[in-house]
Amino acid sequence: MRRTVKIKLTELTQIIIFIVIIQINMILIVYAQNDPSQNNMKLMDEFIENLMSRMTIEEKLGQLNQFPGQRTEDGIRVSKEHVEYIKKGYVGSFLSIAGAVYLGELQRFAVEESRLGIPLIIGYDVIHGFRTIFPVSIAEACSWDPEAVERSARIAATEAAAAGIHWTFAPMVDIARDPRWGRIVEGSGEDPYLGSIMAAARVRGFQGEDLSKPNTLLACAKHFVAYGGAEGGRDYNTVDVSERTLHEIYLPPFHAAVNAGVGTVMGGFNEINGIPMHANRYLLTEILRGKWDFNGLVISDYNAIAEMLVHGIGGTREEVGLLALKAGVDMDMFSGIYLNNIKGFVKNGKLSQKIIDKAVQRVLRAKYQLGLFEDPYEYNNPQRERDILLHPVHLEFAREMACKSIVLLKNENNILPLRKNTGKIAVIGPLADDKDAPLGSWSALGDPNDVKTIMAGIKGAVLPETKIFHTKGCDVQGEDSSGFEYAIKIAKQSDIIILVLGESRFMSGEGASRSTLDLPGLQNELAKIIINTGKPVILILVNGRPLSVSWLVEKAHAVLETWFLGIQMGPATADVLFGDYNPSGKLVVSFPRTVGQIPIYYNHKNTGRPPTEQRNTSKYLELPSSPLFPFGYGLSYTAFEYNNLNIVHDKIGANDTLFISVELENIGKRTGCEVVQLYIQDPCASVTRPVKELRGFQRVTLKAGEKTKVYFQLTMNDLAFYNLNMKRVVEPGSFKVFVGTNSEDVLVTQFEYVGDLLILNENR
Ligand code: BGC
Repeated sequence: MRRTVKIKLTELTQIIIFIVIIQINMILIVYAQNDPSQNNMKLMDEFIENLMSRMTIEEKLGQLNQFPGQRTEDGIRVSKEHVEYIKKGYVGSFLSIAGAVYLGELQRFAVEESRLGIPLIIGYDVIHGFRTIFPVSIAEACSWDPEAVERSARIAATEAAAAGIHWTFAPMVDIARDPRWGRIVEGSGEDPYLGSIMAAARVRGFQGEDLSKPNTLLACAKHFVAYGGAEGGRDYNTVDVSERTLHEIYLPPFHAAVNAGVGTVMGGFNEINGIPMHANRYLLTEILRGKWDFNGLVISDYNAIAEMLVHGIGGTREEVGLLALKAGVDMDMFSGIYLNNIKGFVKNGKLSQKIIDKAVQRVLRAKYQLGLFEDPYEYNNPQRERDILLHPVHLEFAREMACKSIVLLKNENNILPLRKNTGKIAVIGPLADDKDAPLGSWSALGDPNDVKTIMAGIKGAVLPETKIFHTKGCDVQGEDSSGFEYAIKIAKQSDIIILVLGESRFMSGEGASRSTLDLPGLQNELAKIIINTGKPVILILVNGRPLSVSWLVEKAHAVLETWFLGIQMGPATADVLFGDYNPSGKLVVSFPRTVGQIPIYYNHKNTGRPPTEQRNTSKYLELPSSPLFPFGYGLSYTAFEYNNLNIVHDKIGANDTLFISVELENIGKRTGCEVVQLYIQDPCASVTRPVKELRGFQRVTLKAGEKTKVYFQLTMNDLAFYNLNMKRVVEPGSFKVFVGTNSEDVLVTQFEYVGDLLILNENR
């Protein structure tokens, strides 16, 4: 009797579970049917399928090509041959052309004169602003302010979109540990954690909330992947990187961009372990699309598919095209190989039609998502273009962003900020009144005439009684010292000297690797004679990469790292010099003492013989082993004190979150913002771990004398690393936690993870 009841109860439970499951399924189905994003996807794919069913193979291959405009007297224009291509449907995209009206004309050829009327998609390198030029990306990252960085990208997108552009080749998310590599200026520095946060912020900024709105750009995470790992810091050079470094250092910012919904990814010019990136199926397809579920479009870098022949694989244009398509490169920038050299493979079956169709589908989806099928001319409103470029709100924010990007490296005896009525100031150096350098590399429609120089900024800030002298002293490069005499003269007449030295605009950026990090030309000599006058010297560095300026930093009374700050360089620098803005920027890359210290980065390994006084340890004989300035370093006009680093539980399990707090007090005399940084170390694990890894930061503003508690949380994700089998794991054992004002100056505590070995999902 009891048994039957038991059986019946079990059956009843089963029936109930069954009904519940069916109900949940039905709810999910109804939800899916009503989910607008699912519906939109469905509509989009139906539309594209229908369109593709009418496309010839030539038209399909046509969509996979992007060609550049050509310089003419009227600006950058499309050649006659390419106009014919548009009409025949042999091109899907153009790059580096701007202007709402002209791009509207091109769009009309595509939409009204080609057989299927497929709109063009226009790409452009909108890296740090479009007409309103913001600080270069490495500078913006020094703000450690992702909201501000997002806003800067948002404004850039609004301006570029008003000029007919749909797609930016940004953000550049390459981690760079070698400042000889000129493209370090385009990224967010040496750290994958900060780099990932900045990557996601920029993607959000460019793409906005709804890509179909006409003020958004499709973003492009580039250059996939490890392009910044070029041997010797020489651009385009070979990359030989371990699977571990690839996964821990170079891939994370791309993964973050994908998780933030980036629409496109660009391949790097580099090879990795013998395979040029454009033939690297493992990375482009298995990791990017397979493991990370990236559904967007992959574009080649400029002519990079053809350049695989020079790398030494493939052997013919046909073969490299085949390699690229099979690896997962959907669109060919510039080479024309997809247009001219692929058709035969489809006909003879060496290339499956499916691969072409997938690539075409991705191109068409990008166009659809931008709303171009619905209204191909929505980005071509000249009135909007006139109204929005250099909008006063943009200029105002460019100044704020520039202020946030400045890093105060030294301030002996609080010589800064200067009084606005400082008697006589000599502003000396080739970059003090330079309108070109502040634009940095990739400055889109940036115009030197829009730039307010440091000189202009200083003049605008001081009171009328302050006298300003100015001379270049020498050029950035070159051997002409005839200006020295006058420089010494005005230096001697002045109470204070502002020395503005560094690199010119194109000494960093693409193809701008340097074998030395010294100040170029005669600038060191100029600095020496100025320092020898014995007057107080404020050094302003204007540059796209860390420079080795140890002796000068030692001699100068104050040092400001201003990078290339965009068109508001002058006013922002003056805001900081004269104390209207209290600097809060922190370096996102270590500054070496000399070029010979490279690579030098904070998250290095310990080695078996970390540097000590003893000879046989890991160091150079003639240098301290620390950098000149560490990652995360930056001063303020006020001072902060850290106390009582505290962990709520010193033992945690797998489901716990670790709560950490630290007391922060503004012990100086003015309001200031501090970037509080949290690092961890797993001191003993199954594979060696870095001495520190950034895992959190917060910008905290405190009034003079104010004190607060700053809280952080760490989860298992933050503690995980790749084990020997390249699984993301958390191993039981103790961890160190460091909190402080930069990567070296920290308080330390520790806790223990007492759970079991944890294996985490790749998709964090
Ligand atoms: C650069 C890319 C850029 C492309 C288009 C290439 O030389 O490596 O970063 O997006 O040109 O201008």
